[in-house]
Amino acid sequence: MSVPVIPTRILLVGGGGREHALAWRLAREPGVELVLVAPGSAAIATEPQVRCLPNVDPLDGPALAALARAEAVELAVIGPEAPLAAGVADAFVAAGVPTFGPSRAAARIETSKAFCHEVASAAGVRMARAGVFGGLEPARAFAARLAAEGDGVVVKADGLAAGKGVTVCDTLAQAEAALAAQFAGPGPATVVVEERLHGREASLIALCDGREALGLPAARDHKRLGDGDSGPNTGGMGAFSPVPDLPDSVAAELIERVHRPILTELARRGTPFRGALYAGLILTPDGPTLLECNARFGDPETQVLVPRLSIPLGPLLLAAAQGRLAAAARPYGLDGPLLPALPSAAVAIVAAAAGYPGPPRGGDPIGGLDEALARGALVFHAGTSLDPDGTYRTRGGRVLAVVGQGATLAAARAAAERAIERIAFAGLQRRHDIAADAVGGSAPAADQVAMAAGPAPAGGGAGR
Ligand code: AMP
Ligand code: GLY
Repeated sequence: MSVPVIPTRILLVGGGGREHALAWRLAREPGVELVLVAPGSAAIATEPQVRCLPNVDPLDGPALAALARAEAVELAVIGPEAPLAAGVADAFVAAGVPTFGPSRAAARIETSKAFCHEVASAAGVRMARAGVFGGLEPARAFAARLAAEGDGVVVKADGLAAGKGVTVCDTLAQAEAALAAQFAGPGPATVVVEERLHGREASLIALCDGREALGLPAARDHKRLGDGDSGPNTGGMGAFSPVPDLPDSVAAELIERVHRPILTELARRGTPFRGALYAGLILTPDGPTLLECNARFGDPETQVLVPRLSIPLGPLLLAAAQGRLAAAARPYGLDGPLLPALPSAAVAIVAAAAGYPGPPRGGDPIGGLDEALARGALVFHAGTSLDPDGTYRTRGGRVLAVVGQGATLAAARAAAERAIERIAFAGLQRRHDIAADAVGGSAPAADQVAMAAGPAPAGGGAGR
């Protein structure tokens, strides 16, 4: 039987909370000697076996590739979407560096919502009914038709918009205003108009090697700023895993019905996807439906997922980068489409700066970090800076994710709450209801989603 190939020197691109969690995890795994993070952050640099490179531009592919060669890294991992859109993976691959993160062409599955619809449609993956428009009048006519037929319209900018390109509209008037805003700019615009769907959302992320997909446990993000899903959309104010109403049997089937067909279609087009394929799902009464794809790990989903994995991540990321995921999974006894996870739960609560998701206030000292850690939480930094005297200050919109772990979601949630209560900075914004709906064990059977048809494939992850 083959043995896992461990990447001993890893270069991670990015410097937010997701990258803190990835660096924390990878650096702890057996055999890993060094995790370089470009640019990383002062907080990430405090992790053992981690060295940050604050002066490296995470969008500069040639510079990153040269660095990877000079440092003899065996694996490059790309965290955020902007380097993917800038072609950083292409630069690594051209330099012969095994790379976990898709090419710019394959990352279009995230960077163009119109392309995502096109690929999903060709792959037979269900998404919301949608039209793609380059002008206001036909977009308005389509929105009017959807509004007359159903219960709402969603207006989306085609390209990357840092979480600000989507308007979920209750009325046609709102949709018209959103469309007018999208087409108000001087240049050409492409806008996707969708029927509005209803249901809880879930994030299902799979490691992909161009053909094969291995799913991480399902997670749920909380995108709105305020308690009870009030206020504006954000990058994510908290997350939890597992998701009681998305059981492993359904997650395994979704990997087969969503991720794999999309991989097949991208490969058919000559742009195989190697990296983390994130399916943003909505669990409608008619079954799970794909809302969007991302070409990377979720943030803050990663902060709750990596603590739950029960086998090393590094060898699987390397195998995905090298197109040999199925063979790499064998030594771990994996025979289904899900990675094995610990039976425990994790809940992340984000502490965001004043002003977020608008322009945030920075520079405020952060208190209580040591106390939060002393309460057993993981604290992943997303936007902080470090003074010479050891004081951390806010620097960015989402500042920290405080992660509680426990045998159940209720215990993990209580642990996260106990820890984040210690954190204090001027204007701190956070939600108090992360995972609140999901605590108390499994959701009732009637509340669980089922696939529309067909049996779930056998062989889900072990130990969950
Ligand atoms: P997206 O970036 O496409 O995932 O959109 C961001 C958020 O907008 C999603 O997480 C949903 O909360 C919401 N959303 C997007 N598309 C739809 C839709 N068709 N129906 C209902 N909500 C949607
Ligand atoms: N948490 C949502 C995302 O990573 O896009």
